[in-house]
Amino acid sequence: MKQAREQWTSKIGFILAAAGSAVGLGAVWRLPYVAGVNGGGAFFLIFLLFTLLLGSSLLLAEFIIGRKTQKDPISAFKELAPNSSWYMIGVLGVVSCCLILSFYAVVGGWIVTYLFRSIFGSLTGRSSGEYSELFASIISNPWEVGAAHLVFIIITILVVQKGIQKGIERASTIMMPLLFIIFLLLVVRAVTLDGAAEGISFFLSPDFSQVTGETVLFALGQAFFSLSLGVSIMITYSSYLSKQDSLIHSAGSVVGLSILIAFLAGLAIFPGVFAFGLQPDEGPSLIFTVLPAVFSEIAFGGLFLSLFLMLLLFATLTSAFSLLEIVVTTAAKNNKQRRKKAAWIAGLAVFLLGIPSNLSFGVLADWDVFGDTFFNQIDFLVSNILLPLGALLISIFVPLKMKKPELKHELLTGTSLHTRYFEVWYFLIKYVTPAAIVIAMLDLLGFL
Ligand code: PHE
Repeated sequence: MKQAREQWTSKIGFILAAAGSAVGLGAVWRLPYVAGVNGGGAFFLIFLLFTLLLGSSLLLAEFIIGRKTQKDPISAFKELAPNSSWYMIGVLGVVSCCLILSFYAVVGGWIVTYLFRSIFGSLTGRSSGEYSELFASIISNPWEVGAAHLVFIIITILVVQKGIQKGIERASTIMMPLLFIIFLLLVVRAVTLDGAAEGISFFLSPDFSQVTGETVLFALGQAFFSLSLGVSIMITYSSYLSKQDSLIHSAGSVVGLSILIAFLAGLAIFPGVFAFGLQPDEGPSLIFTVLPAVFSEIAFGGLFLSLFLMLLLFATLTSAFSLLEIVVTTAAKNNKQRRKKAAWIAGLAVFLLGIPSNLSFGVLADWDVFGDTFFNQIDFLVSNILLPLGALLISIFVPLKMKKPELKHELLTGTSLHTRYFEVWYFLIKYVTPAAIVIAMLDLLGFL
């Protein structure tokens, strides 16, 4: 029997869930360390530019496809371009999401461990250098991080199997605003640390002499990663959206929130890095060694650290939900019973896929996969190759396979905006986005 398709209960529920997917480790964990490795402020500025120009146009394109078809991504492409191979964009999305979740859940596990230690032990009150040692000792213990990794995946499965409204939407509506508030508190403390100025200027005054072709590609990948683009997630989420809502308003809120959190994350982290004499290019461990040190400088720091970790865990989970949701909805369509089974099978398979990433920091640290660790290679493959590729294909697909009046109708529904805005968007998606991605990729491959 065919069951009615679920919808978000409200527009704000959709925005928060989409922002929940967007805002996660990308802004809080990945952006600071990738910016740290790639020269700081200049990287951030290029990332901002890409997010505003290319990210927003692509987000709108994905919203249009999802809302128009109201289907899972593979079926959506099949409906819009029957008897062709375009549905492979959906397949690419599902595969990319499994790969992202495989390492995302590893970092999610680190947060689980930190949270556990911060509640039941104490994480604050050490000298700043000691946090690096602590982090190294935690992540090299396969049992502790393995168990935490599993806990993270199981929470994700439990929520996703319940479906859109009761699971994802309800959780996001509560957690996202709280995260924002605690972030503000953290930023206030970080920027008033002694020696914070150097960090602020590292983050906010761009030094373009550091910029290389690779920096640009990383910034592009980061822009797509942090808006969850190129992997059909936003197609999936907007497929649950009602026909009346304005896509532009929703996209604006999602982009705005994710930039805001990225900005706050940078302001919370870089002052601490410099104030405590740490290195900004430390890599994936950056926030785990800097933030506990910043919290140690705050009254009731231990308490706030626990609260922060809890919220960061929530932000990470809301992104993880979206990553698993796309796999589940593709496998189970609208069938509630199959959804449960699909969530467990897919979730546990992704857990297994993530084990080598998890061990990349301990037992497998010396395993050289084409010149880097397994963890870093999967992250690189996804963020700098698969996401831009997915984004490129979507930006080719939309103007090629969808009619202009149809696009215009979807884009302008629910707004009183002038047609001019549609034309700007159309230009960005048809010419600017594909051109920028192709240039960045050719550069990576050494052709430029
Ligand atoms: N946008 C998420 C983040 O920034 C990560 C993500 C990427 C989620 C791609 C879904 C798809 O943390």
